[in-house]
Parts: sequence; C-alpha cells; structure tokens
Amino acid sequence: MSTTEIIQTAGRKHRLDRILDRVEASLEDDLVPVEIFNDPEVFRAEVDRIFTNTWVFVAHETEIPKAGDFVQRRVGLDPVIVTRDGEGGINVLSNYCRHRGTQVCQTDQGNSRFFKCPYHGWTYSSTGDLIGTPHLVDAYGEKLDPKEWGLKRAPRVASRQGFIFASLSEDVPELDEFLGGGGWMLDLVVGLHPKGMRVAGPPDRYKVKADWKTAAENFSGDVYHLDSLHWSTEEIHVSQGLQASCEIGRAYEMPEGHNFVGHAWTKAIHPGYVLWGYPPEVTQHFDLSGLDEAQLHVVNHEPPTVGTIFPNLSFIRFNTPAVPGGPFSVVTSFRQWQPIGPGEIELWSWQFVWDFQTEEEVLEHYTTGQFVFGSAGIFEQDDTVAWEGIPRAAASPWMRKEGMAFSFQQGNNSEVDQSPDPTWTGPGIRRNTGYGEHNQLAFYRKWLKEMRKGAPARTVDPASTHDCEGH
Ligand code: FES
Ligand code: FE
Repeated sequence: MSTTEIIQTAGRKHRLDRILDRVEASLEDDLVPVEIFNDPEVFRAEVDRIFTNTWVFVAHETEIPKAGDFVQRRVGLDPVIVTRDGEGGINVLSNYCRHRGTQVCQTDQGNSRFFKCPYHGWTYSSTGDLIGTPHLVDAYGEKLDPKEWGLKRAPRVASRQGFIFASLSEDVPELDEFLGGGGWMLDLVVGLHPKGMRVAGPPDRYKVKADWKTAAENFSGDVYHLDSLHWSTEEIHVSQGLQASCEIGRAYEMPEGHNFVGHAWTKAIHPGYVLWGYPPEVTQHFDLSGLDEAQLHVVNHEPPTVGTIFPNLSFIRFNTPAVPGGPFSVVTSFRQWQPIGPGEIELWSWQFVWDFQTEEEVLEHYTTGQFVFGSAGIFEQDDTVAWEGIPRAAASPWMRKEGMAFSFQQGNNSEVDQSPDPTWTGPGIRRNTGYGEHNQLAFYRKWLKEMRKGAPARTVDPASTHDCEGH
C-alpha cells in the first residue's frame, strides 16, 4: 500500500479504531488515554469483543450444590442462569425466553426443576430444554419442535477450584490454558485444603459509577494507593504495615494477562507472619502437599493479597480485625466488576470461607469481610470514591480537548530495582517491589489485544465516510 493510500485509509478509519491506535501509541509511553473510561462506543465494543469472546466467571460451585439449585448471573451485559441439573451437571443458560425474549428467571437464586416464562408460559428444564408449551396442539399443532427451541446455552463451561467460568464463544482455549499462571495462583489462594473454599453467602451487589477496567487494574497491582487512600484504616488500627506496602510488595505478572500482588508480611510485621498470618488453628487443617516449590515459597513468605483474572474477576485476602483494636482474622473476598454502562459497574462481592471452619468462625470471617469490603466496607468506600473520579475526568470536554492520558510511568526512573526477579521459578514474572505500574500496564495491553482481536472484519467503502467522523 502506498503512503497516500495509508494516509487515505487512516483518514477513513472508524473512530473506535483511532481510539485504539491512540491507546497503542500511549502505552508505548506508559500512558493510558482518558477516552476509554467513559465512552459508549468503547463500552459497546468491550462487551461485544471481550465479554462475549472469552472465559468469564459466573458462579462458584458451592452456590449451587444440589440438583435444581440455580443462580442468576451475568456475562458482560447478558443475564445467564447457572443451574445444577438432576445429573449433577452445570449449565449456563441464556435468560432470554426463546419465544419473545422475556427473562424466564426473575429471581437471583433458588431451587427449581424448571423455569416457566411469565409471559406466555413456555417452560424450560434446568438443562434449558423446552419441556412445556401452553395449548401446544391448538397453538402450534405438530409444527413446534421443542428440540429447536431450548434456551441458548453457553457453548463452553468449565471449573477450576470450584470457580465456574463460561464462554459465549466456542472458539476459546481450554479454561486451564486460558488461566495459565492465573490458575497456578488461584490454586495456592484457595487450594490449601482438599475441599477448597466455599462462599459464605450470596454476593453483595451495588452500583458504582466507575469503569470496570479501573477496578480490575487496581486489584491487579496498585500498591501505591494503600498508604494514602487507606491510611485512615491504619490510624484506627484496622491495618498495619501500610507504609511499607510498596517496599515489601511483590508483583506477579502472568503471560496470559492475569496479575497479582503479594506482600512479604514476614518482613514488615513479624517473622512468624507466614501464610497470610492465618492462626495455627486454621493452618493445622491445610494440606500443602500438592503445591510446587515456588507455590510453597509464595504462600509462606510473599502471598498474593490482591489479584485479577482477566477480564473482571478479582480477589483480596488480608488479615484485619472486625472492629478497631479487635482480634485479627483473614478475609478472602472475590469480587466481580460487572460492566453495566460506560463508566458504570455493578460491584459483586462474595466472602469466602474454609469448609472446615466452625459456624462461629464463619460468622466472624463474614462479619469482618463485610466490615472492610462489603457495600459499606471501610476499604471499599475509600476505593469506590476514588474510582468514581475517573469517568468524570473521561467525560470532561476540557480533558478530552487536552488529550489527557493517565500516567502509569511510576518506576521508569525509580532507583528501586524494577527488573524481573532472575531467581523466580514460578510462571510469568515476579518483581520484588510494589513500586512501578507494570501489572496495570500489562492489564491494558491485554485489554488492547482483546479489543483488536475481537474486531469485526471491515471493508472500507471509499464512497461512504459518514461513520468515520470523530465525535
Ligand atoms: Fe416467554 Fe412468550 S416470551 S413464553
Ligand atoms: Fe484499595
């Protein structure tokens, strides 16, 4: 293609492509342009290109242990019903009636052998088969083949450590391959006991006017904010060691796009503060025999405290009291940043507990978890207020005019060693510092790759440029 043709093609480029080009160029300077955080076209492309084309977490197996159990969840913008059928199988079904589209399941969770659409009464089994059609003979005669009219099923469903993922595209790698180093990390977070962990109850759900990427990126590696945004928690003795959080931070970057941050608490708090500081009455139940050498080192000395499995599943584990000055307990919260609109999410948050814990211990962990990372949690409130500023900046005519881009350049000129640890034997890369924003940049590079990959093939019609204009 000649230079003239390249220039002409660039001139005719779709607006979204031009935004992605600017993201690509900005990332080379460790910057992220403001316009991707609150834009209807970018948002629509995210749900079309990422959320319908990759593995997305939908539920934990302990939420649907019995035949007939179901929960209503989302994959991007789409409501899905996750069911346990009579054979013990797990099904991820579209919650759109095949007759006219009404949601056949109108509740968040329950137990039922079938789902009856409230509109005209078409009825589906927990595997999604159409099993009932009112007035079948008079309405349809012999013409309606129920096999043709079951609920749409997610073509790929698989679990790891009880975490159920679904893909709305057939064309994805096996779940374990998709998770890669993220699965390795998930194993050491929840696989310390043969039965793993279980949910302590249904998820909290609340709306936050923040972009899903901000939350996912924060949980993938933002150590820098701990002793500023959350400093008040240390002042009231709910946290400890925050000022050292970057110094003792460990950044794990996995090639598949999943990122984690750990902390060497044994250095900042107490040499005996291994395994996230779990007390002996908990660790005595652990079975670490399945962990490899690198996993053992990590859980004992530098355990992950936060992490994100791309695109929108994150977790946090840390040791905190339920009331200021009270006894500490280890909280494990998984959270999902559900995209619901440009610059807006529904934040879903589950507390997880060990299967062997007593009811009293479960209650204590749940209460503590809600105190720090529930809808009114003291850490959660800090984070969400900060995150809500970003879509406002993204909607600012002034900032767009200025071509504002956010800085992820921390570490570029730091005297703290930012290089990958040459002694690291686990998957991906480990950096022995919480300074730097490598994980966040890795998150945005993954985002860009998926946005490009999911782009529909386009042919440019030279006679028509009406949809190519900038806004
Ligand atoms: Fe569901 Fe008609 S829309 S039965
Ligand atoms: Fe935070």
